Amino acid sequence: MNKRKIFLTATTFLCTVLLAAGAFADETRYTSHIKPIFDSKCLHCHGAESPELKEFDQDKTKYKELVKGPRMDTYAFLVQFAGWPDAGALMRRLDDGNNTKDGKPGNMYEHLGDSEEERQKNLSLFKEWIGNWNLKKWPDVTKEEIDKLKLSY
Ligand code: HEC
Repeated sequence: MNKRKIFLTATTFLCTVLLAAGAFADETRYTSHIKPIFDSKCLHCHGAESPELKEFDQDKTKYKELVKGPRMDTYAFLVQFAGWPDAGALMRRLDDGNNTKDGKPGNMYEHLGDSEEERQKNLSLFKEWIGNWNLKKWPDVTKEEIDKLKLSY
């Protein structure tokens, strides 16, 4: 190999490594992107003192009066509202009205931020994290649609 070829090969290799590292760093993750939003915008109504989903479902009226939604304060709790058992719940509640049947925002959209700009920014992060913004419930949602959820930790 001549010097020019070695230089080109080395440069190509370096670029590939840098691009791969960049793609990894850019990925929207629970720990680096979603948890901080959740903790400042959602935690006080969906934290450790909230009921688990099954308990919430048994007595929705009581918890609604207490202004407590189901518990979502860890990765494992939160993903229940994207894939299973409450498929599409995060998407239906956080949507800004562009994908809902009635064209109105979901009732948790307002909590995403104090201004429209902040709400849109945080909605984009939730969309990237979820990876497949699908508002369907069980049993309408398909296995293929569930497979496309990203939900990186
Ligand atoms: C002021 C309190 C409050 C805040 C803040 C809040 N929520 Fe809620 N949330 C509730 C209550 C109460 C319910 C249950 C009543 C209902 O279904 O609307 C609920 C329901 C939900 C549901 C539907 C759960 C189900 O399975 O029925 C989702 C999903 C949700 N919230 C997500 C969020 C997210 C994400 C945030 C932050 C961006 C957030 N909420 C902020 C009070 C809150």
